Amino acid sequence: MDVFQIEGPVQLKGSIKVNGAKNAALPIMAAAVLAEGRSTVKNVPNLSDISVCGELLKSLGCNVERQGDEISIDATTIDNPVGDYEIVRKMRASICILGPLLARCGKVRVSMPGGCAIGYRPVDIHLRGLRELGADIFIENGYIVATAPKGLKGKEIFLGGPFGSTVLGTANVLMAATLAKGVTVIESAACEPEITDLANFLKKMGARIKGVGSPRLVIKGVRHLKPVEYEVIPDRIEAGTFMTAAAITGGELDIPNCCLDDLMAMADALRNINVTVEKNNGGCVIARDGIIKTAQITTQPYPGFPTDLQAQFMSLLCLAPGNSVIIEKIFPDRFMHVAELSRMAASLRKEGAAVIISGVDKLKAAPVMASDLRASAALVLAAMAAEGTTVINRVYHIDRGYEKIEERLNPVGAKIIRLKD
Ligand code: EPZ
Repeated sequence: MDVFQIEGPVQLKGSIKVNGAKNAALPIMAAAVLAEGRSTVKNVPNLSDISVCGELLKSLGCNVERQGDEISIDATTIDNPVGDYEIVRKMRASICILGPLLARCGKVRVSMPGGCAIGYRPVDIHLRGLRELGADIFIENGYIVATAPKGLKGKEIFLGGPFGSTVLGTANVLMAATLAKGVTVIESAACEPEITDLANFLKKMGARIKGVGSPRLVIKGVRHLKPVEYEVIPDRIEAGTFMTAAAITGGELDIPNCCLDDLMAMADALRNINVTVEKNNGGCVIARDGIIKTAQITTQPYPGFPTDLQAQFMSLLCLAPGNSVIIEKIFPDRFMHVAELSRMAASLRKEGAAVIISGVDKLKAAPVMASDLRASAALVLAAMAAEGTTVINRVYHIDRGYEKIEERLNPVGAKIIRLKD
C-alpha cells in the first residue's frame, strides 16, 4: 500500500485543472445499460472507483474499453443481470446499476452495498422508489432481488428521507422511470449537479425528462433509448478541494475549468472567512486574504454546503483563531478525519454530529491514516500547511477520488512524494 510523504508548510501558486466528475461518471456509466449498442462517456477520470464500475459492467455482459479519458460501453448483450458481492463490496455506488438493469431486463440481483468509513449507508429509499414503479423486491443472502415481469409503470413518488434527498436513490428511480409505462413524478429528487448531468445524458439517449435540476422531476416513459456520446461535467468536489488547498496554504490558485455556479455554498463559506473567490474566464481564482476567520458550517443536500467538502473545510478551520463549528447533517458519523487531524495538533471536540474546532497557530506534521476518500484529502491539505514531514498511510483511499493528486499539486508548489509501502 502506497504512502504519501508530504513536506510543509508550502504556499500553492499557479493554475490547476479539475478532472471529470467521478460522481457523475458512475451513474452515467450505469445508465449506458438502458440502451442496446455502444455509448461513449468522455472526460472520465482514471480512478479505481471507475475501474470497479467498468468491471461490474463487464460482469453483466457489456464490452467496456477505455481510450484515454473516454470509456466506451457496449451494452448490446446483458446476459448476467447480477451485481456480484465481490465487486459491489469494493464500491457501494455499484448500487446504481439496480434501476437500469431492472428497466432493461425486468429482473436483477444486486448485492446489498456494505457500510463504509462514513457510516451506515441504507438503500431503503432506493427500494421504496422502485417498488412504487411496480417492482417486486426482496432481500436474499445479502442480495437485493428485484423483478418487474410486467414491466415498470409510472407513478407519483415522494423520494425524501430523514436526511432529505438521496443522490443515488434519485439516480436509480430516474433511470428506471425512463423506460416505465406512463408518467413518473419524483418529488424531493436530489438536485446535485451530478444528477443534472445524468438527466442530460438520459435526455440525449431519448428520455423525456422535465424539471432537470429541480426537486421535482417529471419523466414520460419511452419504449427504447439509444446509445450516445457524452462528456461528463468537471468535478466540483475536486475543485472545492483545490480551493481549500489554496486557502489553507495561504497561496493563490487559478482553476480554469471550475464551474463556480455548482459551488456557491462553498464559495460563500470561503468568502466569509477572508478567502477571495473570483470568477475568471469560465473558471475561478482563489486567494487567502488575511487571517482565516471562524465559521459555523452545516452540511445539507445541494445547493447547501456539500458533505463531500466537510472534512477539507475542517482542516482549514483548524487554523482560524477562535471557535468554529461544523454540523454534519448528511452522514452524522463522517468524522474519521477528526482523530487524524488531532494527531497533527488540531484542537477538535466531537459532540454527536457536530465538531467544535478551536483554532491553533499551526498544525504539526505526524504519521496519519487515510480513511474515506474526502477525509484523506483533508489530511493532504493539513499536511501541506503543517510544519514538518507528514506521512499519510493507505493512500489508496485518496486514489479512489483524486487521480494522481501528487502529480497535479506538486507543479503548483506542493512537496508530495509517493512511496511504495
Ligand atoms: C452520493 O452518495 C455520493 N456518492 C457521496 O459522495 C455523497 O457524499 C452523497 O451522495 C451525498 O451528497 C456518489 O455519488 C457515488 P445519499 P449516496 O443517498 O447517493 C440517507 C464521495 O465522497 N439515505 O444522497 O449514497 C443516507 O444514509 C461520496 O464521493 C437513506 O436513509 O448518498 C445519507 O444520510 C461519499 N436511505 C443521506 O440519505 C437511502 O435509501 C444522503 O445519502 C439512501 C440514502
